[in-house]
Amino acid sequence: MAKGADKGGLGAVADTGEMSVPVIPAPGGILRTAFVGGASKGIGRAVARHLASRGVRVIACGRSAGELKSLVDELPLIEVPGPSPKETILKAHKAFVCDLSKTETLESELKKLVLDTGAVDILVLNSGGPKGGSVLDADVDEFRKAIEGHLVSSQILAKMYVPGMKHRGQGRIVSILSTSVRQPIAGLGVSNSTRWAMAAWCKTMAGELAPFGITVNMVLPGFTRTTRLDELSEAQATKRGIKKEEVVEEWIKSTPMGRLGEPEEIASAVAFFASPAASFITGQALAVDGGRLGSV
Ligand SMILES: NC(=O)c1ccc[n+]([C@@H]2O[C@H](COP(=O)([O-])OP(=O)(O)OC[C@H]3O[C@@H](n4cnc5c(N)ncnc54)[C@H](OP(=O)(O)O)[C@@H]3O)[C@@H](O)[C@H]2O)c1
Repeated sequence: MAKGADKGGLGAVADTGEMSVPVIPAPGGILRTAFVGGASKGIGRAVARHLASRGVRVIACGRSAGELKSLVDELPLIEVPGPSPKETILKAHKAFVCDLSKTETLESELKKLVLDTGAVDILVLNSGGPKGGSVLDADVDEFRKAIEGHLVSSQILAKMYVPGMKHRGQGRIVSILSTSVRQPIAGLGVSNSTRWAMAAWCKTMAGELAPFGITVNMVLPGFTRTTRLDELSEAQATKRGIKKEEVVEEWIKSTPMGRLGEPEEIASAVAFFASPAASFITGQALAVDGGRLGSV
């Protein structure tokens, strides 16, 4: 039995012999598992943390093994009931080192993962954003890479995980896109185009999967304080011959709340769509953008 892990034990600890690890009970004693793409940094990392703090076991995907390991090491273990009333089992999270844009090998990598970790209840579609720049300046290969890394990889992930969700009659798919699906952002040509393709994919999937109790929703982050935003501000500043702080200041000015978003604020919206509370909501795109969008 996990020492110190009682039923109300949010924040309880397990004594592993060498060090104490926080333990969170799975809600209702039922283990839910989430695959989180792009989980090593930024928004995906915040999503992984948020879900784990609510008792969800996380499969954290990204390319950097070191960053994923540090994430998995810091997440609380998930406690589920054991074979007898007095026993509990602690479930660990999983780092899945994988480049989602290498779609020719993604399916075989996922097959190995599924043999190890089984089906998932929650699929969070997320990866690194495409390079900035105008549409016309973009190389054809930038489009190929973005479509492979977002649309094609999402299709492969869905083909892998949706059958299990259908079998259980429930599932949650949440895609992290951008406010550009409603209002294109200047200087993000490839990204704007790829997000629209993803939004169309999500909306179509939502209709197809609704009869099986599976919801598909989208979260549209506004300007959010992550490595991605830092890189974009750097690139724009270099191109325009201004300081990157000035670029960030412009973004803040275009946001009625007068600040950048924090990754945790995006993660809360993802966790809502992934929760039982959102059981009758599907095909929706929720902007979490401090009021940036001018449309309803
Ligand atoms: N931040 C914003 O203001 C903002 C606004 C709107 C939309 N978005 C979008 O939201 C998503 C997440 O953004 P973010 O700001 O969190 O970005 P980020 O800080 O750059 O994090 C991106 C994550 O994706 C992973 N990743 C990148 N390429 C990958 C690949 N080929 N295969 C697997 N994992 C990959 C990265 O980890 P590894 O390097 O370890 O692979 C990292 O964990 C992006 O699509 C971004 O464009 C962000």
